Amino acid sequence: MPLIRLDKFLASSGAGTRSEVKKLLRDGAVTVGGQTVRKPEFKIDPNQETVVCRGQAVLWQPFLCLMFYKPAGCVTATQDRRQKTVMDYITHERRKELFPAGRLDLDTEGLLFLMNDGALAHRMLAPGRHVEKTYFVRTEGRITQEDAAAFAAGVDIGEKALTMPARLTILESGAYSEAELTICEGKYHQVKRMFAARGKQVVYLKRTAMAGLALDEGLGAGGWRELTPEETERLRASC
Ligand code: URA
Repeated sequence: MPLIRLDKFLASSGAGTRSEVKKLLRDGAVTVGGQTVRKPEFKIDPNQETVVCRGQAVLWQPFLCLMFYKPAGCVTATQDRRQKTVMDYITHERRKELFPAGRLDLDTEGLLFLMNDGALAHRMLAPGRHVEKTYFVRTEGRITQEDAAAFAAGVDIGEKALTMPARLTILESGAYSEAELTICEGKYHQVKRMFAARGKQVVYLKRTAMAGLALDEGLGAGGWRELTPEETERLRASC
């Protein structure tokens, strides 16, 4: 195992973001083999040395994130007594480390990240971060430019505040309509409730992009692959 920088080891093991980790090191919160180390560039062999951060041993768990094309008909959970879960599709050798970052409804398809970094997942979903998510939507009823204007201004879905400004691109408008909607929050059933607030029922919903990454359509429903290093960088940067 090649030696790696202590700050990289801590960040990729979920101890915090790179800047949080630098602060922990500055504050003297990290020991390697019982000695306090404050230098982020200090090199360690993760398989040999014991690293302790704020009194807790840090386990060597390199970052892993899968892009998963969730099919309809499975729940976004790691286990469920009755229903098939997203994890039932994953055969990756490290699948036990993974959990879904966010959720899609039982009948919603599309992009879901499965990862092992709780801090990153937390940032990705934190209401204050406004990470963008794009959905392809099919509705019963005609989607109009008035709907686009209403979504841009914010609609009442029964929460304390109106929804945040969202971008709607109409692809087809008729008895059944199709559109692309980009939102930057993740309230429960948000897209369905936004269309319901405009008197339209969503009959098909698929997430096509999130946090600056588009769903790889080459995967097919139920397919998954690891993120490339470039995608990982983009994901981290957008969260
Ligand atoms: N909005 C919804 O209504 N459902 C989803 O699964 C995701 C966003």
